[in-house]
Amino acid sequence: MAMHIQKFKVILFISLFVCVNSWKSCHETFCDRIRARPQGGSRNVKLDFSNSVLKLNNESVQTNLNVEGTSQNLKFKLEVVGDSSFHILIDESTPRYRANKALNEVLPPLKIDPKKNNNNTLVTVTHGNNKALIYSSPFKVEFYNNNTLISIANWNNSLIFKTDTNQREIALDILFPNVQRAYGIPEHADRLTLQNTVSNQPYRLFNVDYGNYRVDSTEALYGSIPVLYAHGIEQSSGIFWLNPSQTWIDVTTSPDDVDAYFMSEDGPLDMYFLMGPTLQQAVMQYTKLTGTAPLPQYFTLGYHQSRYSYMSQDEVTSIVSSFDEYNLPVDVLWLDIDYTDEKKYFTWDPKRFKEPEKLLNDLKKTNRKLVAIIDPHIKNDENYDIHTTSKREGYYVKNPDNTVYSDKCWPGISSWLDFLNPRALDYYANLYARRGFNHSNIHIWNDMNEPAVFNDHEPSFEKTMPLNLIHHENRKHREVHNIYGFYQTVGTQTGLLKNNPNLRPFILTRSHFAGIQRYAAIWTGDNYANWAHLRISLPMCLTEALAGVSFCGADVGGFGGIPDDELYQRWYQAGAWLPFYRGHSAIDVPRREPYLYAEGIQARVRTALHQRYAHLPLWYTLFREHELTGEPVIRPITYHYPKEVDALSIDNQILAGPNVLVAPILEPSISSKKVYLPGGKSQIWYNIDDNNKAFEGSGYHTINVNLNSTPVFYRAGSIIPRKDILRPTSTGTYKDPFSLYICLNSTGEANGTLYVDDYESFQYRKNQFLYITLIFSENTLSSQLKDGATYSPSAKIEQLIILNPPKDIVEVKYTADKESATATSLQYNSEKNLLSITGIAIDLQKKFQIEFSKKNNATIVKLSSWMLVIIITNLMFL
Ligand SMILES: *[C@@H]1O[C@H](CO)[C@@H](O)[C@H](O)[C@H]1NC(C)=O
Ligand SMILES: *[C@@H]1O[C@H](CO)[C@@H](O)[C@H](O)[C@H]1NC(C)=O
Ligand SMILES: *[C@@H]1O[C@H](CO)[C@@H](O)[C@H](O)[C@H]1NC(C)=O
Ligand SMILES: *[C@@H]1O[C@H](CO)[C@@H](O)[C@H](O)[C@H]1NC(C)=O
Ligand SMILES: *[C@@H]1O[C@H](CO)[C@@H](O)[C@H](O)[C@H]1NC(C)=O
Ligand SMILES: *[C@@H]1O[C@H](CO)[C@@H](O)[C@H](O)[C@H]1NC(C)=O
Ligand SMILES: *[C@@H]1O[C@H](CO)[C@@H](O)[C@H](O)[C@H]1NC(C)=O
Ligand SMILES: *[C@@H]1O[C@H](CO)[C@@H](O)[C@H](O)[C@H]1NC(C)=O
Repeated sequence: MAMHIQKFKVILFISLFVCVNSWKSCHETFCDRIRARPQGGSRNVKLDFSNSVLKLNNESVQTNLNVEGTSQNLKFKLEVVGDSSFHILIDESTPRYRANKALNEVLPPLKIDPKKNNNNTLVTVTHGNNKALIYSSPFKVEFYNNNTLISIANWNNSLIFKTDTNQREIALDILFPNVQRAYGIPEHADRLTLQNTVSNQPYRLFNVDYGNYRVDSTEALYGSIPVLYAHGIEQSSGIFWLNPSQTWIDVTTSPDDVDAYFMSEDGPLDMYFLMGPTLQQAVMQYTKLTGTAPLPQYFTLGYHQSRYSYMSQDEVTSIVSSFDEYNLPVDVLWLDIDYTDEKKYFTWDPKRFKEPEKLLNDLKKTNRKLVAIIDPHIKNDENYDIHTTSKREGYYVKNPDNTVYSDKCWPGISSWLDFLNPRALDYYANLYARRGFNHSNIHIWNDMNEPAVFNDHEPSFEKTMPLNLIHHENRKHREVHNIYGFYQTVGTQTGLLKNNPNLRPFILTRSHFAGIQRYAAIWTGDNYANWAHLRISLPMCLTEALAGVSFCGADVGGFGGIPDDELYQRWYQAGAWLPFYRGHSAIDVPRREPYLYAEGIQARVRTALHQRYAHLPLWYTLFREHELTGEPVIRPITYHYPKEVDALSIDNQILAGPNVLVAPILEPSISSKKVYLPGGKSQIWYNIDDNNKAFEGSGYHTINVNLNSTPVFYRAGSIIPRKDILRPTSTGTYKDPFSLYICLNSTGEANGTLYVDDYESFQYRKNQFLYITLIFSENTLSSQLKDGATYSPSAKIEQLIILNPPKDIVEVKYTADKESATATSLQYNSEKNLLSITGIAIDLQKKFQIEFSKKNNATIVKLSSWMLVIIITNLMFL
């Protein structure tokens, strides 16, 4: 118990600490020296375009850059990579640390044809519709798409590149003309639209352990993704500032442009200009550089139950039994630090978790999975082999005097694995071969990896490592701080894949950097049980999604504090629509598994969970599409409707894919909610929370709500795949039938997609899957299959629900290959504005056609008395 008291004290301490606002401001860091930019025109920042130095070829432009106040000539390089992104690298002749691990792969230069003008002032580089004009003096680069100016690098000539031993900061400003908003640069507890920071602190990217964080804030949090989008009615683009050292960003927004001034503590100027010209394209250009998330297992999209901490293996199995008893689905149980033997990771408490394999097998019997925590700090205990080995082999992060760094964390005095050292990383990955961790039913949570250090004795305590520590190849911690935790997840993924090469691993991480989506999901850390934290969870995850990380969620109920009943229910309802859905709570708050609540509350939580599970086929399809295209799984409204001025800042609503709009209730005691529906008058949205009532996409609508409500709208023109039977787990639904919700638009048309595979393995990468395009047009539903892929799913489509259905349908004719069958059970429901067809069994593997026929003259006579309810039974499909 001593340890828990210790964590509790630390939580309290941190909360106090936050209240007195001790996180560093710009003027307490290097930022102070450069925030007031060097002023403009008279500065000498010059590219050397003389023939003896300038190198132009079909892959790059290279030359020297002279910067006033910098003691040496810098190397300048421009190339085009990825999806037409301009890459500029400015570095010393001895290269600084480059965070190329954030990139998906080595990016080959694309073909360019650079041209210099006669008087050596300008080099023009064209690539497709894009163009960069590189000016020699003062140095600046203008980027154009189709001859429209998109952005200007070093617009104000404030470039900084310090080369003194102790002052190595760099800075540059980018102007984005003709835009109205800036988004991106997570992680901050802030709105989708970035604030103007002129009279505020700049946005800070510096991974820190900051619980119960302040909202609407530019303060640093657990993760750092230095991609910023400039977005407007007419054009959008972005900048990816690839730098893992502490970074501050001043954002200046005016009605018609955005200026972003990036300041980093170290590293080269390593920048990728995303050319848009839409936000959607800019996001895909970013994921072209940093990759997409590999398709997760199906279960990961179900509900996760966690707590700091479940204290014994019996407790874990009894929680599962209670979920079953109360008919509440749950897929995953989580173990926080107390499962270990005295916080020694890769061990199990010898009494309370004495049979980890049994626990894992027991969970497997009911289709449940286990996630266990592994932190990066290693207890300094001479009887702990991971410590003695790491010390002996030099796997730890070191002090400047080359001794092993140690300080306090959960286990007491600890040291930190240097995941940047390939040998240490390999050693760490192999630890997953240990007992329990080599089981196919375990998945991993990497926490405290900012890294968090309980070093309140340090003079400038920010609960993380001192910046002068030493990593592999003599890199200072300062150079790599924001990418340290990222490297832990790389090792975790390697370890899990070694154990089970054909099983998709699931990893959750708190610290993150650009590219993390290739390794792990994230959550928004130690939030708090209040409405402000529920509200901010949407923009936080929307921003992460635009920055490549779709697999994001917030602790349901709030980690710290005690949610009242209303907040608790609302959080389950809203959380069901973020990609990662986990209930979690702190050690010092009362238990709050949903079955502990009164039946009315429990029923609403059950409905929320059911809604989540019903839409798993949709979530899974969206994750697959993300993997292929880089499109985020959740999107702000403006992503699809950039022309709608009123939608530019909407971040209390979410689009799950293009077709489902969710407006969860995020405030207490309300009986109506204003919901923005985009697309104009001709775009209809069906409120599935209220009898599929149709609304025009003409802007704000007032929706009446009660405690049961979560306004969710399906877009007319779309087809949504679902599985509507409530089961204890997602795995239990594998064989359950699909229902297709066919949402007809004003021209009686709709389309959609459905992806299925074995939900667990990598066989889908060997074409073992089905990707089905569904099209409804002229009263006929037809399917198209992705060529070359085959899979034989056990589930069929057994229900079609047509919203806003054509009238007088009496007969349904199914054709696939040479088979055909007629009719089945049809039921109109006028109150719900739908036609339901059941008693069918459509094989997904075959291209099919289903024709819906209106009554002919004969059937009018025969069926006129049926009015709206017409049932034709007993003609089952083959
Ligand atoms: C540039 O030219 C060289 C020599 O002709 C060729 O090998 C290389 O593939 C070209 N690079 C690109 C990106 O086209
Ligand atoms: C260089 O030539 C360009 C036209 O190509 C002209 O606009 C510019 O003024 C000239 N600059 C100098 C310094 O002569
Ligand atoms: C850019 O110009 C090309 C060629 O004129 C045209 O095909 C393309 O549609 C234009 N793109 C945009 C975004 O305007
Ligand atoms: C940038 O330069 C322009 C033109 O010199 C000036 O008007 C503007 O105030 C500068 N902006 C900043 C943020 O320094
Ligand atoms: C897991 O590791 C333990 C300890 O090395 C070993 O006894 C067990 O057989 C391993 N299990 C699997 C499934 O490899
Ligand atoms: C209806 O939906 C179809 C397919 O989704 C689309 O092609 C068509 O343009 C839509 N019609 C209207 C009026 O929105
Ligand atoms: C579905 O219709 C939309 C227009 O509503 C269109 O943009 C999209 O490409 C269509 N998708 C398929 C798979 O036909
Ligand atoms: C139904 O009857 C109308 C007029 O009585 C006729 O014009 C039409 O062709 C008939 N339709 C069918 C399908 O027999």
